[in-house]
Amino acid sequence: MKNFVLFGPPGAGKGTQAQKLAVEYQIPHIATGDILRAAVNDETELGKEAKSYMDRGELVPDDLVIAMVVERLEQPDAGAGFLLDGFPRTIHQAESLDEKLRAAGKAITGVISLEVTDGELIKRLTGRRICRTCSTTFHDKFNPPASDGVCDKCGGELYQREDDSESVAHRRLEVYDKQTAPVLEFYGRKAILRPVDGEQDINKVAADLMDLLKV
Ligand code: AP5
Repeated sequence: MKNFVLFGPPGAGKGTQAQKLAVEYQIPHIATGDILRAAVNDETELGKEAKSYMDRGELVPDDLVIAMVVERLEQPDAGAGFLLDGFPRTIHQAESLDEKLRAAGKAITGVISLEVTDGELIKRLTGRRICRTCSTTFHDKFNPPASDGVCDKCGGELYQREDDSESVAHRRLEVYDKQTAPVLEFYGRKAILRPVDGEQDINKVAADLMDLLKV
C-alpha cells in the first residue's frame, strides 16, 4: 500500500517533490496548506478561522486540521494510497492519523523526511513564486520560469504567498522546531522514517525519493 507522508520544514521542497511523486505513483497529493489556502480564498467557515493563524505563521488548531484530513482521506481516490504533505505537524495529529487509519485496517507505510538547513530554507521561502491558476511552484533564482512572472506550464500569473515574507518565514521555522520536529521522533520509533538530503538539486532529490519509495 502506498500511504506516504512527505515530511520536512517549511520550504524543504515537499510541494515541489509531491507534485512529481503523485504523478509517478498515481496517488492523490493531499497538502493541508493547499486545502487551507483554498478555504481562505473561498471564505468558508474553516478558511475564516484558519486565516489569522496562517498569516502569523502559527499552526491552525489540531481539531480543525484533523477533521479536514479525515474527510479528505475518506474520499474514494485515497483508497489505494495517498501522499500527505504538511500533515501530521503535531504529535496529536500523528496519533489521530494512526488511530483513524488503524480503524480502517490501514497504516502509514513510509515517511520521507527532507533535510535542509535553516539558511537555505529562508532563501527558498522568500524567493518562491506560485502560479495562481495551476499552483505550480517556481523560485526566482533556483527554479525560475522562462518568462518573469508567468507560469511555464499554463501561462498563469505568478504570485508570492503572504506567509513567505522574511519575518513570517522565520516564525514558521520556530514553530516547526517547537511543535513539528518532535513528530520525527514519533515516526523514528516506528522504523518507517527515511531521511533524504533535500539540499541537493531538485531533480537529484526526486531521483533519491523514487529510489526510496520503489515498492
Ligand atoms: P504549508 O503550505 O504546508 O507550508 P509549509 O509546510 O510551511 O511548507 P511550504 O509549502 O512553505 O514548503 P514546501 O516544503 O512545500 O516547499 P516548496 O516545494 O514549495 O502550510 C502553510 C500554513 O498552513 C502553515 O504555516 C499553517 O498555518 C497551516 N497548516 C498547514 N498544514 C497544517 C497542519 N497540518 N496543522 C496546522 N496548521 C497547518 O519549495 C519552496 C521553494 O524552494 C520553491 O520556490 C521551490 O521552487 C524551491 N525549491 C524546492 N526544492 C528545491 C531544491 N532542491 N533546490 C532549490 N530550490 C528548491
